[in-house]
Amino acid sequence: MTGYEVTQVRKTTRLKQKLRQYLGPWGVFLQGFIEHPVMVGSIIPSSRFTIRKMLGPVDWDRCQLFVEYGPGVGTFCRPVLDRLRRDGMLIVIDTNKLFIDYLNRTITDSRFVAVHGSAEDVEDIIRAQGHQQADYILSGLPFSTLPEGIGPRIAAATHRAIRPGGAFLTYQFSKSAQDLTAQHFTRVDSGFEWLNILPCRLAWGWKSEN
Ligand SMILES: C[S@@+](CC[C@H](N)C(=O)[O-])C[C@H]1O[C@@H](n2cnc3c(N)ncnc32)[C@H](O)[C@@H]1O
Repeated sequence: MTGYEVTQVRKTTRLKQKLRQYLGPWGVFLQGFIEHPVMVGSIIPSSRFTIRKMLGPVDWDRCQLFVEYGPGVGTFCRPVLDRLRRDGMLIVIDTNKLFIDYLNRTITDSRFVAVHGSAEDVEDIIRAQGHQQADYILSGLPFSTLPEGIGPRIAAATHRAIRPGGAFLTYQFSKSAQDLTAQHFTRVDSGFEWLNILPCRLAWGWKSEN
């Protein structure tokens, strides 16, 4: 690199740092979107209305392990930790290292584990944390824009990873997450939240008890 190029890289890095400090978590999310638009799929984190509605049906007394795919800057993490039992665990999985590093810096809760990886590997990831299955898995993944084949593989692995009676929770503007859920889960409840950018479809796929 020439001296001029090094100066330009330094200037860009300083600008990104300033933007992140000014905007807080929104700045980190925006940077993640600018760098990986297809994988992030949204420029604004979910609203509190979406969070409340999505987590409503969870039976927290029976939740030892809660898994989240695509936590981004952790919009759902704090509300999940607020509801989770003291001896529970929240594992979040994201392909974007920027987000995982941010979460590890900002969430200091012994029940919280942030993994840099893909949701496709959920079974190995939960086994590595000493669990056989998850009670609930929540997904913020943009299924409609993920590279071909990844969505179906994630949906199949998710069904295997959830215990009987547990559920797969999704929220997305398009119907693709709900359609993938319906391919594996016999009962799928659905909902809608207008107060979100963009408004989103909510789905709860319940794994049968037997
Ligand atoms: C729409 S953002 C989620 C935002 C956040 N959950 C919220 O509610 O505001 C989608 C996230 O999925 C992550 N992601 C994309 N593909 C993934 C995969 N295969 N496994 C895990 N995370 C993935 C992206 O890095 C991004 O953080």
